[in-house]
Amino acid sequence: MKVLLTGANGQLGRCFQDRLPADWQILATDSAELDITDLAQVTTAVSTFKPDAIVNAAAYTAVDNAESDVELAERINATGPANLASVAAQYGIRLVHVSTDYVFDGNANAPYTEESPTNPLSVYGRTKLAGEHTVSATAPDAIIVRTAWVFSEYGNNFVKTMLRLGKERDALSIVDDQRGCPTYAGDIAQAIIALLHQQAAGGIYHYAGDKEVSWFEFAQAIFTVAVQKAVLSKAPTLTPITTAQYPTPAHRPAYSTLAGDKIKALGITLSDWQGALNKTI
Ligand SMILES: NC(=O)c1ccc[n+]([C@@H]2O[C@H](COP(=O)([O-])OP(=O)(O)OC[C@H]3O[C@@H](n4cnc5c(N)ncnc54)[C@H](OP(=O)(O)O)[C@@H]3O)[C@@H](O)[C@H]2O)c1
Repeated sequence: MKVLLTGANGQLGRCFQDRLPADWQILATDSAELDITDLAQVTTAVSTFKPDAIVNAAAYTAVDNAESDVELAERINATGPANLASVAAQYGIRLVHVSTDYVFDGNANAPYTEESPTNPLSVYGRTKLAGEHTVSATAPDAIIVRTAWVFSEYGNNFVKTMLRLGKERDALSIVDDQRGCPTYAGDIAQAIIALLHQQAAGGIYHYAGDKEVSWFEFAQAIFTVAVQKAVLSKAPTLTPITTAQYPTPAHRPAYSTLAGDKIKALGITLSDWQGALNKTI
């Protein structure tokens, strides 16, 4: 299989390259090599490399910055996927696109399925949802993987932020009234490889961690492992706080657990984020 990877330097992009099956070929592109917002660049890359599949790991992921950087977020999260979908459809190529739990408003009290109504609260969520819509309208056999709370050994993420703050401070206040499922980027990469390998039907698939927590509980798990592994000599004192006590530019869903039954039915296991956290730290 020949895969064109976009956003190759992001968390998912790096993890995808690390896990590429030995007999697959890849053209891994970062934003300087292939800007997905530029249709001509996308067309040239696809017509030259002639991939069997495009994996879009590129995105505007700075959730709070997006509130004041609307135009760029729209270009990267909606126009970019639209370009990839139109070229994929034109050349008969499979597109795997990645989206987010932040397409939901968090008012549910049971895990969100692929059919649950969307209602994003933020510019990031709205632009990611626009990306989903344009991808499914333009390339109906595209696979859209919605994931959540991504961490890895690469890039910026909550695990790395906690480890840095844990070195700098004796006490931290962490939001305890937003719940979701941490997801290891390497597991998302494996799930995408499995979906491509088994030529899964087009449509939306939820793929996230196998255990729901709050950010506070996630931080507790991170510091427990960090102390066990002697990455930190001692954990900071953690205080649970409410979202109202930690205002941010973007509103986030209070509850964004994704139901993984559809992807599990294909024999793909959800992300064992606790095991992955051990290895990551
Ligand atoms: N991170 C999370 O917690 C989270 C949660 C739910 C869903 N997701 C979704 O999961 C996917 C992967 O996220 P991630 O955490 O791996 O993201 P990431 O680490 O922020 O990486 C995103 C990559 O996209 C690249 N990019 C930005 N604009 C581009 C453009 N115009 N053309 C090509 N590449 C461009 C960036 O490159 P430059 O740095 O060079 O700009 C960056 O390397 C995304 O679709 C994201 O929306 C993430």
